[in-house]
Formats: sequence, C-alpha cells, structure tokens
Amino acid sequence: MNYNIALLKGDGIGPEIVDSAVRVLEAIGKKYGHVFKFTPYLIGGAALDSVGVPLPEETVKGCLASDSVLLGAVGGPKWDTLPGNMRPEKALLGIRSAMELFTNLRPAKLYPALKGDCPLREDIVAGGFDIMIVRELTGGIYFGDRGMREGKYGEEAYDTECYSRFEIERIARVAFDTAMKRDKRVVSIDKANVLDTSRLWRKTVHEIAEEYPKVECTDMLVDNAAMQLVRNPAQFDVIVTTNMFGDILSDEASQITGSIGMLPSASLGTTSRGLYEPIHGSAPDIAGKNIANPIATILSAAMMLRYSFSLAKEADDIVNAVDKVLNDGYRTADIAHGKEALSTVEMTDRIIECL
Ligand code: IPM
Ligand code: MN
Repeated sequence: MNYNIALLKGDGIGPEIVDSAVRVLEAIGKKYGHVFKFTPYLIGGAALDSVGVPLPEETVKGCLASDSVLLGAVGGPKWDTLPGNMRPEKALLGIRSAMELFTNLRPAKLYPALKGDCPLREDIVAGGFDIMIVRELTGGIYFGDRGMREGKYGEEAYDTECYSRFEIERIARVAFDTAMKRDKRVVSIDKANVLDTSRLWRKTVHEIAEEYPKVECTDMLVDNAAMQLVRNPAQFDVIVTTNMFGDILSDEASQITGSIGMLPSASLGTTSRGLYEPIHGSAPDIAGKNIANPIATILSAAMMLRYSFSLAKEADDIVNAVDKVLNDGYRTADIAHGKEALSTVEMTDRIIECL
C-alpha cells in the first residue's frame, strides 16, 4: 500500500525527532512492502520565520489532503513574546481544530526496564501501570471566548470553558470503546463540585455509560485525580477528561513513566486521518545537539500505523523494537542518569536494527 504522510517538523528538537520517526517508518515500509511518501509543511516558529504566520493555509490544506500527519513540536523562547494569536502554540490548536481532531489518546505505561526512572516509591509501582488518557481536544477553555476588559479592579483578562452535550457524548463514546478493548474501566475526571461544564460532563458521560453495560464507569474530581495518579497509578485503566484537565494530568502521568521523552499521542477525529505527536515540547535547550530522545515520536509513528492505517502488526514491531532496545540497556541522555548515553541518531539506529 501507498500512504501520504504530511510532516510538520516544527521547532526545537522537532526536526531531529521527526527525522528519526521517518527513518523507522521507511524501515518498516521496506520490511512489509509499504510505500510512505512524506511531504513537509511549515508550522510554528519555523513558519513564522519564513512566511510570517504560525499556521500557513498551505499547511492546513496539505494536512487535510494527506492520509495522516506526523508532528514534532512547536514553540521556543524566540517567539514567546508574540501576541497570543501569533504564537507557535496557536498553530497546534489551529491544526487540531481544522482537522476536527476531537480525541487525543495519550497512553502512559511503565516500561519494566525503566522502573528505576519512576520517581514513585518502588512498592507503589511494583505491579507497573498502563493508563490510556482520553483527552477532549477541540473544546473547552482552549477554544472558548476570551479577551481583555475593564473590570472592578481595572484591566482584567478572561477565558471561558464551554462544553456542549454533543462534544461530551462523542468523547465519552471514544473512551468507552477504548475501554472495551482494554480492562473495561473508565474514570471520568471533572470538577463537578464547582463547575457547571463539569456537571453537564458528568451527567452526559453516565448517560453514554448506559450504552456500555460491560464497562465500569466512575467519576473522580480532578484535584483528587492528580493525587491518585501518584498515590496509586495502577488503579486507572481509561481516563476521560476535558481539554485542559487532560493536558495537565497527561504531563503528570508522563513523569511517572520515567521520562516525558517516552510518551506518544494520537489525535483523531471521525476519519482515519490523524495527527501524531510526542506529548513533550520542543525542548529548545537541547535542540540541534543530537541528544533528544526520539522514542516518543517513533512510538507516535507506530500509533499512526495502528490507528490511521490499521497496520497493527507493523505497529507492534516498532513497539517491540523499542522494548528490546530499552531491555538491552540502551538509553538516551534523559534516561541515562549520567551513564553512557546514545545520541538521537544512534538510538534510532538501534531501534531500526531490531525491526
Ligand atoms: C500539549 C501541549 C499543547 C497543549 C500546547 C503546546 C498548546 O502542551 O500538546 O499537551 O496544551 O495542548
Ligand atoms: Mn501539554
């Protein structure tokens, strides 16, 4: 089969880690007889520097015309002082919205080989954990009405959280469908003791839960959830939550896996076309040094094979290769703890050798 993949390398370490994932995809294509055609498009600071906007029209068109999209990361200190709507991050929200990618899957599991990297006490993670965070991605406070105005104390800023029943229903269905293929437990996370959006969220999730009698559905307040993630992460199977709570909790979940450099993500809508990206950022401090951990992006490419192209075996091959390399003791600097570390390119070479 032939697949057209749009590449959004972006900023910082983005180009290096996307190049790694491309090499892995090419190797897997060669092994299984698939042809991946890659077309790069500008996004983020790189786009600002060369064409003056963070998300050029051509990029949106290219992504919508592709079979799937692989993204590195956007942003960096150079563009931090730009107004909100010109920031590189705005491009990320823009492309998620333009592609109608309302689902963000963020798996957080503890690799046995990396147990020692987990900051939690050994007895807490003895049995490991395997969590799938289902984050709503095109609604909530990220996309609500915002602005500046004069208030009681003078100048003030506001952002609004808004969720429709429709938006909650569709992300809840994704969570329950996901749970059906896993341990059949969904924890819905909200702040229903304070927020009206959360009360509608909770009510709607339970209505959808009735369509899935085999799945256990419980609620948890977000502050408690932040605590439970470090107290006993193994209690979670699928988590479903809003855009902002999902953003925050997925960073927390990533850290207990040992390194944020390990976590992939898939952003999906109603078509097979998705956007795949590591959950970490552009890490400007280590950009261009060939030391970034490419694993999150390589695993994101594996998620693309699985979710967009239904190439489960090919995806498993990549996941197994990453497992093997880690079990063999190879590490990049973020997980090497001062011991010998492989470069980005060397880590990619090792993974390709194991395919
Ligand atoms: C993420 C990032 C983005 C988000 C930023 C860069 C806009 O933190 O993908 O988690 O908040 O969604
Ligand atoms: Mn984030």
